[in-house]
Amino acid sequence: MKTKKVLLATLAISSMFALAACSGGSGDSGSGDKGGDGGLIGVAMPTKSSERWIQDGDAVKKQLEDQGFKVDLQYAEDDIPTQVSQLENMITKGAEALIIASIDGTTLTQVLQDAADADIPVIAYDRLIRDSENVDYYASFDNYKVGVQQANSILNGLGLVELDGTAKSDAPKGPFNIELFAGSPDDNNATFFWNGAIDTLQPLIDDGTLVVKSGQTDFQQAATLRWDGEVAQSRMEDILTKSYSDGSKVNAVLSPYDGLSRGIISALTDAGYTVGDGWPAISGQDAELDSVKAINSGEQYATIFKDTRNLAKVAVDMATALLNGDKPEVNNTEDYDNGKKVVPSYLLESQIVVKDNINEVLVKSGYWTEAEING
Ligand code: GAL
Repeated sequence: MKTKKVLLATLAISSMFALAACSGGSGDSGSGDKGGDGGLIGVAMPTKSSERWIQDGDAVKKQLEDQGFKVDLQYAEDDIPTQVSQLENMITKGAEALIIASIDGTTLTQVLQDAADADIPVIAYDRLIRDSENVDYYASFDNYKVGVQQANSILNGLGLVELDGTAKSDAPKGPFNIELFAGSPDDNNATFFWNGAIDTLQPLIDDGTLVVKSGQTDFQQAATLRWDGEVAQSRMEDILTKSYSDGSKVNAVLSPYDGLSRGIISALTDAGYTVGDGWPAISGQDAELDSVKAINSGEQYATIFKDTRNLAKVAVDMATALLNGDKPEVNNTEDYDNGKKVVPSYLLESQIVVKDNINEVLVKSGYWTEAEING
């Protein structure tokens, strides 16, 4: 503990020098010069195969460099041993803090022990790291609420509720056929999304407005390992063959992530569904560019926008505070129990995006340009 305090104090002084150097007028000398005194921060991201993590990585790196830190940013292509060895490497190189978006939230216990032994603070980025004492802070969104928003978005697509979940007075009676997808079971977020969505949908399943024709209503049945779009595509194909070959149609699909939604859309297209003609309302998450285009063309009904620039800022502020010997700002100290402790968290708000508010939410905030969306 004592060593940690001394280390933090030393780091605080060196970061102050780094910050002073940055604001001292020579800030245009490029990131090469500025980083030294700010020390090295390790940033571990899960995969480049999803666009959102590329944006997260870029945003965290840029913001840290703007603060005068050096950054070791690594992607592990969804391979757990690769992520573990990347983290070991960062520790060996003398990283002063680690910002980690884990692949499997339960597999980092040993490497985090090594980080703790070297007095390196750890910030879990978007995904909670489980089963370890050595997670200091958690930066994320209100993940339960994301699930509620995903459910409300498809209920809105069916004409049942407003986007905020208020029932519509002229709502159709249904019944509507719905199929349910969940995220990766090793990602702590997946159950939060699922619980938020199911708590919202269950009353309508119970009163017969919604019917899950496949009967697959358990998280384990709906889960999609590694958030893999191809896995979602083949499960959707299977469901269409087994439960809809009597000519009935799927009217809505709960999908917790844009990459899964794209797989589901492919399965529907291959099965002969066409947009506009009994095409189901499909949800998503992350506002990935291809999916924003799909919302524009009517293939996907909605996505959930989680501004990666703001998330990066929360994580960077946490790291900076820790290295300055300050207490990072948090707004939740109850909900994120990782099996060993409740990790103090800062949770951001997310927004539903449908065709009508793409411009308002995504273009005006500078997340995507009109040219990118229409290109
Ligand atoms: C989750 C994350 C989602 C989505 C998903 C697949 O952990 O919260 O926003 O990105 O992973 O990458």
